[in-house]
Amino acid sequence: MTPPLLEVDDLVVHYPAGGMLRRREVQAVNGVSLRLEPGETLGLVGESGSGKSTLGRALLGLTPVTAGHVGFDGKRVSGRDRAGLAHLRRNAAMIFQDPFNALNPRQTIATSIAEVLRVKGEVPPAEVPARVAALLDLVGLRPDLAGRKPHALSGGQCQRAGIARALAIEPRLVIADECVAALDVSIQGQIINLLIELKARMGLAMIFIAHDLAIVRRLCDRVAVMYLGRIVEEGPTEAVFSSPRHPYTAALVAAIPSLDPARPLPADPLPGEPPSPLALPPGCAFHPRCRLARPECREMAPPARHDGERITACVLSPDEITTTQPRSMEP
Ligand SMILES: Nc1ncnc2c1ncn2[C@@H]1O[C@H](COP(=O)(O)OP(=O)(O)OP(=O)(O)O)[C@@H](O)[C@H]1O
Ligand SMILES: [Mg+2]
Repeated sequence: MTPPLLEVDDLVVHYPAGGMLRRREVQAVNGVSLRLEPGETLGLVGESGSGKSTLGRALLGLTPVTAGHVGFDGKRVSGRDRAGLAHLRRNAAMIFQDPFNALNPRQTIATSIAEVLRVKGEVPPAEVPARVAALLDLVGLRPDLAGRKPHALSGGQCQRAGIARALAIEPRLVIADECVAALDVSIQGQIINLLIELKARMGLAMIFIAHDLAIVRRLCDRVAVMYLGRIVEEGPTEAVFSSPRHPYTAALVAAIPSLDPARPLPADPLPGEPPSPLALPPGCAFHPRCRLARPECREMAPPARHDGERITACVLSPDEITTTQPRSMEP
C-alpha cells in the first residue's frame, strides 16, 4: 500500500505564553491527525485563533512541533530527521496572506522567482530566464511585468507573482494560508480560478486555510473544521456543509449568508467567543458554547468517530444534530 502524500498523527504545538504567564502554555494545536492524498485539496476552517496557521506552519517544519508525527511521502518530517525535512522543503511550498510581504520589496518579481530556481538547482542557469517567463505565463502575468518590484504591482498581480514563486520548486504540496483574504472580491475569484486550474494541470495537493466557507466549498474536495486546536469534523466538503455532524460546524454553516436576500442571517448561530487557548475547558472544548451539550461533554473529550469518509469528534449522533439544528443552509 502506498503511503499518503501527507500523514499527520496526533500533532501537538504549544507556545510558551511569555510575560507573567511564563509557566503556562498556549495550546495552539492539540492532537491533530489527518491524511492528504496526491492531488487532493483539503480546506482548513475555523474561527480566528483555532490554530490553523500554526498547524500549516508546523506541517512545513516552520514552527517547532511539541509532540506527534508528520510524514511526507512515507518519510518522517518532524523530529530530528533532517533528510525528511529537506525532502519536504523541496516538494512543498507556502502561499501567504499578504502578497506584498511574501516577496522581497527590493527585488523585481523575475529576480525573486529566479532566486528560488537557483537555490533548487535543477534548472541550468542559462534556462532560468525562460523558466521564469513560463512561470509568469502560467499564473497569467504579462511578460512586461517581470521587471517590476512588488510595490509597482496591484494586490492581485502580486499574489499571482507569489504563487509563481511558490510553484517554481514544482511542489507536490502547497499550503495556502488565507491567500485571497487581502484581495478584492473580483480578484479573489480570479485567484481561486487560477488555483483550480493549476490543481487540475499540475496535480497539486493543497491545504487551503480560509475563513470564507463559500470559497472552500468551491475549491476543496474535503474540509477539516478546527476548534481550539482540534479537528472537530472532517469529510467531503459537500457532505460536511450540507449535513454537518458537529454542532460547531452546524453553527459555522448557519452563519454563511444565504443566496436568498429575503432570508435573514440567523440571529445568533454561535454565542460568545472561544475560550482562551491558555486555559482550555475540561472535556469537549466546545461544550461551553454548545446548545446541545450533555453532562458528559464537560467530563471527557470525545474521541474522533470514523464513519466511511466522515470523521466527527462529538458524542451526539448525526440525527441528533440535524434534527435539533435550528437552521439549515438549504431553503
Ligand atoms: N508565535 C506565537 N507565540 C505564542 N502564541 C502564538 C504564536 N502564534 C500563534 N499563537 C497563538 O496560538 C493560537 C492559534 O493561533 P493561529 O495563528 O494558529 O490561529 P489561526 O486559526 O490561524 O487564526 P486566524 O484565523 O486569526 O489566522 C492563538 O491563540 C494565537 O494567539
Ligand atoms: Mg491564521
